[in-house]
Amino acid sequence: MSLSWSAKDHKNTNQPAATGQKRSRNDAGNKVTVVLGAQWGDEGKGKVVDLLATEADFVCRCQGGNNAGHTVVVDGKEYDFHLLPSGIINTKSVSLIGNGVVIHLPGLFEEGDKNEKKGLKGWEKRLIVSDRAHIVFDFHQVVDGLQETERQAQEGKNIGTTKKGIGPAYSSKASRTGLRVCDLLGDFKDFSTRFKNLVRQYQSMYPSLTVDVEDQLKKLKEYGERLRPMVRDGVYYMYEALHGAPKKILVEGANAALLDIDFGTYPFVTSSNCTVGGACTGLGIPPLNIGEVFGVSKAYTTRVGIGAFPTEQLNAVGELLQTRGHEVGVTTGRKRRCGWLDLIIVRYAHMINGFTAIALTKLDILDVLDEIKVGVAYKLNGKRIPHFPANMDVLQKVEVEYETFPGWKTDTSAARKWNDLPAKAQNYIRFVENHIGVPIKWVGVGKSRECMIQMF
Ligand code: GDP
Ligand code: IMO
Ligand code: MG
Repeated sequence: MSLSWSAKDHKNTNQPAATGQKRSRNDAGNKVTVVLGAQWGDEGKGKVVDLLATEADFVCRCQGGNNAGHTVVVDGKEYDFHLLPSGIINTKSVSLIGNGVVIHLPGLFEEGDKNEKKGLKGWEKRLIVSDRAHIVFDFHQVVDGLQETERQAQEGKNIGTTKKGIGPAYSSKASRTGLRVCDLLGDFKDFSTRFKNLVRQYQSMYPSLTVDVEDQLKKLKEYGERLRPMVRDGVYYMYEALHGAPKKILVEGANAALLDIDFGTYPFVTSSNCTVGGACTGLGIPPLNIGEVFGVSKAYTTRVGIGAFPTEQLNAVGELLQTRGHEVGVTTGRKRRCGWLDLIIVRYAHMINGFTAIALTKLDILDVLDEIKVGVAYKLNGKRIPHFPANMDVLQKVEVEYETFPGWKTDTSAARKWNDLPAKAQNYIRFVENHIGVPIKWVGVGKSRECMIQMF
């Protein structure tokens, strides 16, 4: 297999295995900043990453696939990213897709080419792809749809997945029949055999699944050749970035804590770890190299797809948040469900991720409301429950205890510093900050980069 990561590239690198170097806890190398969703996704991670990426050397995706949809607005132009790290906009930084990501190759190139037409020049030269990343095949996407139909027929409800093949691709990975980028770029005969076996495996489960195997293999070979110059051994590449000269490394989380396969509202979740551990396993970053962990939360809550949503407002408030907030999924075009800010879930996300600061986005959407509520506790049969429940039947039944705040009824979209915000908005923000127990570092009042008030 010929990858562009060659022995020559390894010269003068800090390879611990080869040189037997010993590292102490104080010599962990560069610290990595991680940006993570603290709710059910679409919190504005793309915007926060874009802001931080202006100074980053590396911007990395560690998990998920093109189920993610991250919007970035620069100079009035709106870009949406699904597989590409949002930092690809910064022409001075390198973007990395790590081993924990599942890649649909047609989706990747379509996304890059579409954004290139909008002005994103030279993205292929700035993108590095880990050779250990798993591939999402077209049939994984078809199977995603078939599984949703099956769930609907058997249980009367589905998950409302993005149908991007994410669940089936991670299933193939976990059952050890998946194929990785290094397999595609290795012995193609071997790859073809394993691909055919994988197709057969799925066809035995879903007899209606038809796959034109030869056509798929032909296309995959072409995509592989286009990908080859971008592919590196992600572990060594990351190690080098961590231990070379001082570097600013940013990890862009996809999806969010409540969609995490372990900690989210299972089974109405995605299939990867969207919490901080995913940054370590999805890129080969030792925990000691994790520095700042920024949680992103909207000033209210949204959710796409099915599943319990205690603070959901199926009324005029929910409709106002949906229309004013343009709450439509970037990936699927579905309307997002909307409700009040649920601080129980943001605190729960903090317990798992250990946020060092919060970015509170979309405060401006609340500008017109007479009063604003915030969920502070769940009650079951009239009694407060002490934990965020694991069981979805329980979450479905909880009543929410709210704190109510007077609305500020003032346009905040032109605010650029803390003192520009009305006192009632400041009260709201301070309450949220105290309740989560994490400092709020940014407050978002609009879509573009400059609409982010930095607090410290
Ligand atoms: P992500 O998936 O977490 O990156 O978030 P999305 O891009 O899916 O959804 C967030 C949406 O809110 C995008 O359309 C952003 O442009 C927009 N947005 C982000 N921050 C703000 C903000 O502070 N105010 C307003 N009005 N829009 C924002
Ligand atoms: P970003 O990164 C919002 C949701 C889907 C569905 C569930 C499982 O933009 O915040 P999947 O296709 O992953 O198997 O779907 O997870 N979901 C998201 N919702 N934002 C996302 O990503 C999401 N990624 C997955 O709607 O309910
Ligand atoms: Mg999104």
